Amino acid sequence: SMKSYTACLLVVCQVEEIREMVDNDLGFQQVETKCPSQTKTFLFISNDKKVAGCLIAEHIQEGYRVIEEAVPEGSEGEKVMFERQRAWCCSTNPEPALCGISRIWVFSMMRRRGIASRMIECLRNNFIYGSYLSKEEIAFSDPTPDGKLFATHYCGTSQFLVYNFNVVV
Ligand code: ACO
Repeated sequence: SMKSYTACLLVVCQVEEIREMVDNDLGFQQVETKCPSQTKTFLFISNDKKVAGCLIAEHIQEGYRVIEEAVPEGSEGEKVMFERQRAWCCSTNPEPALCGISRIWVFSMMRRRGIASRMIECLRNNFIYGSYLSKEEIAFSDPTPDGKLFATHYCGTSQFLVYNFNVVV
C-alpha cells in the first residue's frame, strides 16, 4: 500500500542518515554506501526509542586472517596501550567467508553492555535466510582499535578475518 511504501522510504532515508552519522564518528570519508542493495543494516533501538547501535553487513567471498604479534612485556596498562596503538597485519592468503561487517558502531555512553555482541547474534540469525552464520564465516572491514578488541573477544581469537583494507608496504 501507499502508506507502507512511504513508511519504508522514510526508514531508508533514516538509515542513510544514521550511516552518515556513524561514518563521521569513524572518520570515514566515503560519501555513499558502495552498493546499498547488497548491504543489510541492523539497528539497536534503546528503550527510549533512540538508535544506540548500528551494524552494516555485506556479502563477501573471502577474508584474510589477522597475524598475531607478540605483545611486549609490561604492565596491564602498557599492554592495553600497545594493543590500541599498533597497526594490524594480515595474511596474504585468502580464506572463504560469506559475511563482511562493513561497519559496527554503538553510542559511546552505551558501550560495554553487550550491544555490539547482540547485534552480531542478530546478524548471524538473519543474514542468510534459513541458516545461522558461524563466526568463521564473518570478516571485519579494516577494524579500528575498538573494533579489533571487540572482534578478538567475540571471535575468541585475535586471528579473526579482515577484508577491504588499504595495503601499506
Ligand atoms: N576495549 C576492550 N575490550 C573491548 C572493547 C574496548 N573498547 N569493546 C569491546 N570489547 C570486548 C570486551 O571483552 C567486551 O566484553 P566486556 O565488556 O564484558 O569486557 C566484549 O568485547 C563485548 O563488547 P560489547 O559490549 O558487545 O561491545 P560494544 O557494544 O561496547 O561495542 C564497538 C563495541 C562497536 C567496537 C564500540 O566500541 C564502538 O562503537 N566503537 C566506536 C566505533 C568503532 O570503532 N567501531 C568499530 C569499527 S571496525 C568496523 O566497523 C568493521
